[in-house]
Amino acid sequence: MAQGSAEITYQFEYEQRVRCAFIGAGGHSYRNVYPTFQYAPVDLVAVCDRSADRAAAYARTFGATQSYHDHRAMLEQERPDAVFIVTSYDEDGRVQATDLALDCLAAGSHVWMEKPTAASVAEVLELKTAAESAGRFVMTGLKKIFTPAMEKAKSIIESDEFGPVSSIIVRYPQGLPDDDRKQDPRELIGFLDHIYHPGAVLGYLGGKITRFGYEREPAGGSVAMLRFESGAIGSLHLAAGAAGTSPLERVEVVGRDANLVIDNGVRLTYYRPGVRLGYGRNPSYVVDDDVAPLVWQPEFSLGQLYNKNLFYLGYVPEVRHFCESVLAGTPPTKGTLDESLAIMHLFDAYRLTPPGQTVDLPLPG
Ligand SMILES: NC(=O)c1ccc[n+]([C@@H]2O[C@H](COP(=O)([O-])OP(=O)(O)OC[C@H]3O[C@@H](n4cnc5c(N)ncnc54)[C@H](O)[C@@H]3O)[C@@H](O)[C@H]2O)c1
Repeated sequence: MAQGSAEITYQFEYEQRVRCAFIGAGGHSYRNVYPTFQYAPVDLVAVCDRSADRAAAYARTFGATQSYHDHRAMLEQERPDAVFIVTSYDEDGRVQATDLALDCLAAGSHVWMEKPTAASVAEVLELKTAAESAGRFVMTGLKKIFTPAMEKAKSIIESDEFGPVSSIIVRYPQGLPDDDRKQDPRELIGFLDHIYHPGAVLGYLGGKITRFGYEREPAGGSVAMLRFESGAIGSLHLAAGAAGTSPLERVEVVGRDANLVIDNGVRLTYYRPGVRLGYGRNPSYVVDDDVAPLVWQPEFSLGQLYNKNLFYLGYVPEVRHFCESVLAGTPPTKGTLDESLAIMHLFDAYRLTPPGQTVDLPLPG
């Protein structure tokens, strides 16, 4: 059995399932969210989309008996224990899911929502308050921190042998609009949409960011310099301009005499501590087995669950974490509103700080 992964139960094998509804019948949810329900304790009772035809088609495809084009009617009629929300943006740059989540909480449902949780710090705080007063959870699909490689990286960096984290570098391809365009929320939709991915990784591996500054090149690429509350330092390289054929991401964490690298989201290499090669007269780089680097990567040949993107990109694990939290009555520990809040503080730092300045986070106000 692979570390950290209990064997997967198929949906129909669960004795207890969460009575769920779904708002949104778009492209991403069809590909990557509804299909996770095959491996989670979900009883999908209803689907809602502004397009009644799409809602009906998704309901048929994914096994719900009811479909709606008005989410309020669905909430009123179905009284689901939990609602999945995968919607998009309004023309003014607002995140549609934020208001929908507030409606679901008011109707007494727990909420799982795709990122971004919201378009501002204030909206995440509003969701926090609403969730607390409703006694319900809101979880955001921060898939990057649910991938097997990232979870293993986290367990390595927390081990005594790795030592405290000294530095972190995350590379992710994303353009940042210039200072003029940054004033318009519509121009920031793409940035908001994607900052959740590297932002989640930085928070998961490094904790709270307390200091921030960046440089930007004219085509939109940027490199940010970060200091974490722990004392570690870091860098976020938003590599606008990278080729479409290139692996998107690279994560490196350095400890004390040890470091690890995740390439392309799936290949994890752990360079273990304890190697003393000396300099000048060593005829070989081959070190003893107990200090040699460790590498994990999928084999991509067998029809195994771990070879499905639903698993190695983190979709099934995030949905299972939500459902298990609802069934246990305990708040999710990952994908929390506090994590979304930290990402929105980072978003604000990019939005409000000109290149070349260094600021303390969170920004005042
Ligand atoms: N985590 C990931 O890997 C990942 C990947 C792609 C997209 N996403 C996120 O998924 C979300 C959706 O992306 P998409 O490409 O599927 O968008 P989409 O535009 O294809 O689908 C959105 C759907 O929501 C419906 N909708 C909007 N408001 C509604 C309302 N009030 N009531 C009912 N239905 C409503 C629309 O009719 C549409 O069918 C975005 O937030 C995006 O950031 C995440």
